[in-house]
Amino acid sequence: MKKRGDATERPSRATLHLLKRRHRTVSKTLGLIGSGMIGSALARLAIAAGLDVVLSNSRGPETLSELVAELGEHARAAGPAEAAQAGDLVVATIPLKAYDRLPAAALAGKTVIDTMNYYPGRDGDIAELDTGTLTSSALVQRHLAGSHVVKAFNNIDFHRLFTLARPSGAPDRSALPVAGDDRTAKAQVTQLLDTLGYDTVDIGTLADSWRTQPGTPMYVQPYFTAQKPEGLSPEEAYRWFLETPGVPVPTGRVKELIGTAVRGPAGGSLTALAGD
Ligand SMILES: NC(=O)c1ccc[n+]([C@@H]2O[C@H](COP(=O)([O-])OP(=O)(O)OC[C@H]3O[C@@H](n4cnc5c(N)ncnc54)[C@H](OP(=O)(O)O)[C@@H]3O)[C@@H](O)[C@H]2O)c1
Repeated sequence: MKKRGDATERPSRATLHLLKRRHRTVSKTLGLIGSGMIGSALARLAIAAGLDVVLSNSRGPETLSELVAELGEHARAAGPAEAAQAGDLVVATIPLKAYDRLPAAALAGKTVIDTMNYYPGRDGDIAELDTGTLTSSALVQRHLAGSHVVKAFNNIDFHRLFTLARPSGAPDRSALPVAGDDRTAKAQVTQLLDTLGYDTVDIGTLADSWRTQPGTPMYVQPYFTAQKPEGLSPEEAYRWFLETPGVPVPTGRVKELIGTAVRGPAGGSLTALAGD
């Protein structure tokens, strides 16, 4: 799963057209801090829905020129602080280990969507998460004390995130959970999800957001139920990953699965994620 999504299996042209027609004005510009697998999938959905996007990463805007060119005239790249300032809503979608480098001052007063998950193999051990004192999003909220953090998009893989988007009312539309401490911010994020192609299930506060952390029933698997065939090379496995269709997960199923979650140790395993 370590490459950016490509054109394999996309939402249909009609779906993208309908998403655009249903664009709501609440959020005109989406700021992205992080433009990797999840950031670029969200940027593609946002552009398809008629929003503007400002992308950023750690290496500088010039390294995003190819993606910006692909996205077209409604996309531009900037540094993280500028992306934060430009966004009516801002997505923080970087490895969790870098959460304390999110530009807190530039994000003050903003609603910040946190897609991040804790993988100690990548992020190192974080004591407050290992002891269960905080959820990863509560940790992010502590750093972004002047912002309203809402957890979303963390429990679906980047490729299914793009390909399962559907217009409001579509029979095969999926729902995604959201969690946050501020009702207004959650309502803004719910509206953004609707614009991008998803229904929403409110699962509570940031303290409740463990219900979608790695290892819980709602994490990734419901949207991608296929079992990887044995014996594939890494290239074949990645192709299989891109070509295998996702499974729509409606609101009722999300509620059901969230209700069955049991809190275990925080932190996912990268080996389990790779399906090895
Ligand atoms: N991949 C998935 O399917 C998936 C699904 C759900 C949730 N998530 C979670 O979402 C987050 C992002 O995942 P991803 O797979 O999109 O990661 P990724 O492909 O590795 O991309 C990470 C992005 O973050 C940028 N970045 C790193 N440090 C930064 C900093 N200090 N300031 C600004 N940008 C920074 C990177 O820029 P540079 O390349 O320039 O360093 C890159 O654009 C992770 O926490 C992950 O666990 C991932």
